[in-house]
Amino acid sequence: MSLFQSLVLPAPCQSRDRPYELTLYRGDLEHPRAPGNKWHKLQYHLQAASQQEARVIATWGGPFSNHLHAFAATLCTQPFSAVAVVRGELQPKLTPTLHDLVDQNVELWPSSRADYRLGEEAEVVQKINAMYRSVYWIPEGGGGRLGAQGCQDWAQQIHQQNPHFDAWVVSSGTGTTAAGLLAYEQAPDLQVFSALKGEPSQRNAILTVAQLLTPSPLKTLSDKLFFHHTAHQGGYAKHSEALRHFMIDFAKINPNATLDPVYTCKSMFAVMSAMRAGTWPYRRTLFIHTGGLQGWRGFSKSDNPFEGST
Ligand SMILES: Cc1ncc(COP(=O)(O)O)c(C=O)c1O
Repeated sequence: MSLFQSLVLPAPCQSRDRPYELTLYRGDLEHPRAPGNKWHKLQYHLQAASQQEARVIATWGGPFSNHLHAFAATLCTQPFSAVAVVRGELQPKLTPTLHDLVDQNVELWPSSRADYRLGEEAEVVQKINAMYRSVYWIPEGGGGRLGAQGCQDWAQQIHQQNPHFDAWVVSSGTGTTAAGLLAYEQAPDLQVFSALKGEPSQRNAILTVAQLLTPSPLKTLSDKLFFHHTAHQGGYAKHSEALRHFMIDFAKINPNATLDPVYTCKSMFAVMSAMRAGTWPYRRTLFIHTGGLQGWRGFSKSDNPFEGST
């Protein structure tokens, strides 16, 4: 089965002098346990944990985190115990995501938001390290150099299957995926849309991580990277009215291309808006689906225009 799916563009996105082609790379269908970018970001961390003979792997995430979800589903097939530091106090009724973690034997450690922000310096981390002797910590979101390295491999796999695109589009949270894709030398222009509000400095963070993975000069990387920090539609995991309308229309014409509610829906909205305005600078674009469909469980069913589609 090909993972390259042609998308139908609404009529206003097309005119005879601007024949856009938008293809969706179905990363969300690649790996049942860790779809989208998740397996790619985890794989080198798991190898490193084995090499260090860690017995426990721990990581961080919010109560609806796609990363935690994929971490749990992957770790339950591996010879490690799994620990998750969850942002904020645990509510008596767990989110569906955290429920799945518990079902997969992940030990949950709640953390106040203030402590959570301290990362490796957090009190909860010291407690976990004291309790278990050999803990391998995966950065939040599966990030870091090893996370990006897996995404650099992913870029090569995608490019080898189809090198004929003028640009790739990817959504960003930590910027790890974008850094890995950018570091692959044969990648075309990379258009990155951040799901976060107020993080323009992430562009530099992406470049910094990409530079760890490739001898390419900074200028070459920078010239290929187009980073957008205003596509968040009101903030992380928020939906503006315009985005809701867009998703309803998108789901009608592309019923087999379900987008996630936090990342890909916003990037797709931004790309199609630019096509509609005639300002999108490429003819053939590949949009890389980074997964995250489990995240819809954090929204009411009536907000999900893909409900019932595949
Ligand atoms: C579905 C989805 N897309 C995109 C991203 C952003 O990836 P990154 O944190 O590597 O920028 C995430 C977060 O991991 C995600 O869950």
